[in-house]
Amino acid sequence: MKQLIIINGPNLNLLGKREPEIYGSQTFDDYLNILKSKYNKVKLDYFQSNIEGELINKLQEAGFSYDGIVLNAAAYTHTSVGIGDAVKAIETPVVEVHISNTFSREAFRHQSYISAHAKGVILGFGLKSYDLAIESFIL
Ligand code: DQA
Repeated sequence: MKQLIIINGPNLNLLGKREPEIYGSQTFDDYLNILKSKYNKVKLDYFQSNIEGELINKLQEAGFSYDGIVLNAAAYTHTSVGIGDAVKAIETPVVEVHISNTFSREAFRHQSYISAHAKGVILGFGLKSYDLAIESFIL
């Protein structure tokens, strides 16, 4: 059985309440249940933190044992050399995801410290971006 983990960064614990015109009105817990039943042949774990170092610790921990990591580092995408370095350092392939199309938003969201080290990047499809990322690991 393939082992995948979704790692979500800061403020994504507020999905459903946070700027619903951009991020939608569904909570991530509800969406995760849908993903888990859709991909019931996959072991799908989940981790969320608002703290940069905790995200790095989780990437290091998962990055030598899981088959794939789906990473939405949220705002840290645009600022964190440390998270970019962690993605580069680990063996497990990482697919970077974003709910919104960051390229249609403010210029500071166009920069990613992760993309260069990711297997691929999926953005702009709402929560469906996570579904597409999981799909990419089971093709
Ligand atoms: C985001 C986009 C980021 O720019 C933002 O800081 C987020 C969410 C997205 O999923 O669209 O928190 O990663």
